[in-house]
Amino acid sequence: MSLPTKKFRIAAIPGDGVGGEVLAAGRQVLDHVAAQSGAFSFEWTEFDWGSAYFGRTGLMMPADGLEILRDFDAIYFGAVGWPGVPDHVSLWGLRLNITQNFDQWANVRPVTFLPGVRSPLRKADEHALDWVVVRENSEGEYAGLGGRNLSGRGPGNEVAVQTALFTEHGCERIIRFAFDFARTRPVKRVASVTKSNAQQYGMVLWDEVFQRVAQEYPDVDSESVLVDAMSARFVLRPEDLSVVVASNLNADILSDLGSALAGSLGLAPSANLNPERRFPSMFEPVHGSAPDIAGRGICNPIGAIASGALMLDHLGRSTEARQITRAIEQTTAAGVLTPDLGGTATTDQVAKAVLDALGSVVPAGR
Ligand SMILES: NC(=O)c1ccc[n+]([C@@H]2O[C@H](COP(=O)([O-])OP(=O)(O)OC[C@H]3O[C@@H](n4cnc5c(N)ncnc54)[C@H](O)[C@@H]3O)[C@@H](O)[C@H]2O)c1
Repeated sequence: MSLPTKKFRIAAIPGDGVGGEVLAAGRQVLDHVAAQSGAFSFEWTEFDWGSAYFGRTGLMMPADGLEILRDFDAIYFGAVGWPGVPDHVSLWGLRLNITQNFDQWANVRPVTFLPGVRSPLRKADEHALDWVVVRENSEGEYAGLGGRNLSGRGPGNEVAVQTALFTEHGCERIIRFAFDFARTRPVKRVASVTKSNAQQYGMVLWDEVFQRVAQEYPDVDSESVLVDAMSARFVLRPEDLSVVVASNLNADILSDLGSALAGSLGLAPSANLNPERRFPSMFEPVHGSAPDIAGRGICNPIGAIASGALMLDHLGRSTEARQITRAIEQTTAAGVLTPDLGGTATTDQVAKAVLDALGSVVPAGR
């Protein structure tokens, strides 16, 4: 007698530009592993929210969009942003609207060095490099606090204030998450990143919370590093890194640096987690909508496909998640690479190579 198939209800939001291209590739791969396992399937609901929707309605998503999304098991997101819509309008209207209102406070961004992909780092030839940026995703510099005023003083005299919000609770939960995460990794080490020499309030609070929480994890190495020094460290001594935890802005920048060092922005996956599972979590590539290459069928789908693997992990299907990771490695090792990695493959050809590689990995079975 066969067991009933578990159905995962997923909201797909391709968004703008290459978002649709990479999400289509990721969905093919996810459907394939589901069918191969026979134990679960995906029920996709696609939403056409984004900059074109904004052009039609004046909104990036409907007013009741969060209500619509609330009951899904997860959200699979492409990218948002398109010329003609100010970036802060598109980002706040859709992506940040979801991450902040669904309290997806932990953003996990692995930096993975894949076989067959040339890294600009010479160190990558000598060391197995692999680290994860854990980004505080609910407050900090992206709290959206501040304002613009005094424009009445005339041209050239406007004033803008952008305030970063650091709460003890917000710092503690992401720092604890980073330590717990480090315990699951071969190298049990957390580096906390701030700029507390110059930003003496919020980031000093962060540093103090980090020191306090670190004492509860004597089995995990810990260190505090300033963000400028950590940028240099990513390039010069990345072999020491395991988990890097940082505020919203600092981790955003560091994770782009990490994915560029791994070979391309197109490779990096990410998970926006609501660890308490009160709301659906959201999985998306780190990259944006790439208007310079959108519509040409040449964008790299690996970041989106790997984000699908993170989604499977979150849904409790870690065996299939590992199968996808291995299939990605086989694909890059075989030299099937998009132009951002120096190759000539199209988005579809990379997706097909991943599907072919999945055909040769052992199915998980029921
Ligand atoms: N999470 C998001 O939705 C997100 C993240 C970053 C930027 N954005 C938005 O995206 C738009 C473009 O921003 P940007 O140019 O600064 O960043 P971007 O990530 O879109 O592009 C930066 C560079 O990386 C390349 N690139 C990105 N994704 C790629 C892929 N999958 N394959 C190959 N090359 C890829 C692009 O061609 C470009 O040269 C803006 O509107 C911005 O606000 C959205």
